Amino acid sequence: MNREANTSSLAGDSASEPVVWMSDGSPYSPRFNDRYRSRSGGVMQASAVFLAGTGLPAAWRGRDRFSVLETGFGLGLNFLCTWAAWEADPQRCGSLQFASVEAFPVATDDLVRSARKAGLEGHPDSCIASRLPELAEQLARAWHGLSQGIHHWNFADGRVQLTLAVGEVQATLPILDCQADAVYLDGFSPAVNPQMWSAQTLRLVAQHCRQGTKLATYTVARSVRDHLQQLGFRVERCPGLLPKRDRLQAVFRP
Ligand SMILES: C[S@@+](CC[C@H](N)C(=O)[O-])C[C@H]1O[C@@H](n2cnc3c(N)ncnc32)[C@H](O)[C@@H]1O
Repeated sequence: MNREANTSSLAGDSASEPVVWMSDGSPYSPRFNDRYRSRSGGVMQASAVFLAGTGLPAAWRGRDRFSVLETGFGLGLNFLCTWAAWEADPQRCGSLQFASVEAFPVATDDLVRSARKAGLEGHPDSCIASRLPELAEQLARAWHGLSQGIHHWNFADGRVQLTLAVGEVQATLPILDCQADAVYLDGFSPAVNPQMWSAQTLRLVAQHCRQGTKLATYTVARSVRDHLQQLGFRVERCPGLLPKRDRLQAVFRP
């Protein structure tokens, strides 16, 4: 594995999760031995897997409010891309609620660095990528002293609301107040982090879903498809983002 000996952590932010920045500019987790995002780039992954897989941006049009639930906040790139896509859409919903869980919050400078790198990625929708550094600066100003439990921040004059539950996924999902219209499952690969994809975790996710909630992820692992189907999701394999052959999208029809 080709990595830079470049692990970030802010002074005074010593409890932050270490992120290794690899020589190709992508962030890597030494704890989980996995990349934070696709080799094809974080903005591509957010757009082609998570937004497309949950029918966004069309799904929020005509709505007063739209809620996204994510497992694994990480470097916040899915949140920032969703916010940027919302901001760029003249037919956006009145407000966007984004709720996520994270056991190991990263340092502020890693959030900013991640968004700057992603902002330089080639992407067909350049107005999303180009907004990421500025939106990340706004997130970074709020991101400090993250204790275990629920944190709530408003952006865009209160029209973008971020709720972050800091703690273990199975402890935090039950205390999140969110009825999701869309779910992003983004907890590293199931092979290295089975806890994020277990039947119990996915059952807790389903408790935040309503009839018609859409769910998206990059893995088509058999166990994940089986658990989702048993919970009442209709699961579909779709062409994936390289290097993955497939991605998964699903609708909750219990
Ligand atoms: C692939 S990264 C998420 C990337 C992120 N969605 C983004 O847009 O930058 C997966 C995240 O899940 C978190 N995670 C892993 N296991 C967890 C657990 N058991 N409970 C809560 N968070 C967990 C990791 O710390 C990591 O930040």
